[in-house]
Amino acid sequence: MSALVQPLPEVNPLQDTLRFARRVPPCAVVIFGASGDLSKRKLLPSLYRLFYERRISPNFAVIGSSRTPMSDDRFRGVMKESVSNFLEDAPFDEDVWKSFAQSLFYVPGDLNNPASYDDLRDKLDAVEKSHQTAGNVLFYLSTQPSHYAEAILELGQHNLNHGTGWRRVIIEKPFGHDLDSARKLNDEIHKVFDESEVYRIDHYLGKETVQNILAFRFGNSMFEPLWNRRYVDHVQITAAESIGVEGRGAYYQEAGALRDMIQNHLSQVMATVAMEPPSVFDSTNVRDERAKLLRSVRVMKPEDVSTHAVAGQYGPGKVGGQDLPGFRQEPSVDRDSQTDTYAAVTFLIDNWRWAGVPFYVRTGKRLPKRVTDIAIQFKAPPLGLFTQETKTGPREVRPNLLVVRIQPEEGISLRFLSKSPGSGMRVRPVSMDFNYGSSFGERTPTAYETLLVDAMAGDPTLYTRQDMVEASWQIVQPILDVWAHSRFEFPNYAAGTWGPRTSDEMLARNGHVWRIP
Ligand code: BG6
Repeated sequence: MSALVQPLPEVNPLQDTLRFARRVPPCAVVIFGASGDLSKRKLLPSLYRLFYERRISPNFAVIGSSRTPMSDDRFRGVMKESVSNFLEDAPFDEDVWKSFAQSLFYVPGDLNNPASYDDLRDKLDAVEKSHQTAGNVLFYLSTQPSHYAEAILELGQHNLNHGTGWRRVIIEKPFGHDLDSARKLNDEIHKVFDESEVYRIDHYLGKETVQNILAFRFGNSMFEPLWNRRYVDHVQITAAESIGVEGRGAYYQEAGALRDMIQNHLSQVMATVAMEPPSVFDSTNVRDERAKLLRSVRVMKPEDVSTHAVAGQYGPGKVGGQDLPGFRQEPSVDRDSQTDTYAAVTFLIDNWRWAGVPFYVRTGKRLPKRVTDIAIQFKAPPLGLFTQETKTGPREVRPNLLVVRIQPEEGISLRFLSKSPGSGMRVRPVSMDFNYGSSFGERTPTAYETLLVDAMAGDPTLYTRQDMVEASWQIVQPILDVWAHSRFEFPNYAAGTWGPRTSDEMLARNGHVWRIP
């Protein structure tokens, strides 16, 4: 035990009590798929950072497991390199690492081999004693999704779902490949874990800026009265990425943009923007409202898919003078692949608040830049008293626009009109900006830090529940079904451009235009 209580760097006590109020109980975290990308880029850097900030109990241990044979020491060495490479906006401290590394262990194992679970149990028993983890165990499934059901079943068969403390399981996305497989996976999981022990992760819900949508909407009284069909013309949700598939060609070819981003992250963001206020801010009420909203999204008829959804795939292009390959030229991708690397959908929400207000959602790889934002476009004033000055002459005024910037810049801007200085009533759009960085002047925790702490603390508010996952599959399933039987003329946009022309046409049919974020 003595090694675990080595002194850590001083933390400002005020910051410590206010910002990091949530303390978590002792526990062991078991990461299946520990030598994978997620573990190296996100999970270990987040756990290290939480340890550095003393947001997790000193009585914790991480047990990594995957097929690669490795000793504890080798695992520590590999993870040290990853943590120092992938820590976001935070320094790497050699002394803190030394202390942290003493809580890292490794069990080589094959998820389909029952003997591996015996080894895991032995290691868990050992750390429970050496690190006093109180029998609490958080399993993190970050393996290939096809192994989820098997791994959960084995945990049950080895009685690892019970112990002296609590047992919880975090399941990475994708949760199922379609509605049916998501339901089957839920059934399998529920044979072993109770729903209250299941934490389906959607890291977008853990982003500070996504959480802030709720604070913005329900912590203020001035925006909510406008947040409805009477004042809002339409909403645009954009998650643009400049990267391609980054060595994930094999996974991505099976998934596609609609499954990879819209079924999960962006439908949860849409639910956060559009849901009703919960009566109490707790996991049941917040998740009830999100689920209710997702159930109110109109499920498209097959004949509406061609007008309400657009698929795109990037071809070769040029960005900043650099030649980029098309999707079909990426490693592990078929030369005639029909996979969508861009998807845009018009969702309609059939409830009193939103009837008739289109929610346009788009995402894509190899777009001109990385930006995620939500634009609430308000209606034009009922009477056009003014004209707006532009370089090319006067034009009709542009209505108010509220933009919630999720990343990389984090903040909120409100566009409104102001009188231009000088004689005559000429107006020009100006904006009022809130910027996270300058307002709070401190580092924002990453989504994985937030979500890991929440799972250890037993708070599932920012995790998705079975009914939410099923409802979000339900709204994309008709599109997936129609696309599965379609033959697209891909590629239909060049790498480094804003997606296919058909996406602009989808909005133009309603008299709308995509913003350039
Ligand atoms: C993942 C997707 O869930 O989210 C990736 O599988 C995508 O394809 C990533 O790049 C985007 O996350 P973020 O946090 O970088 O916007």
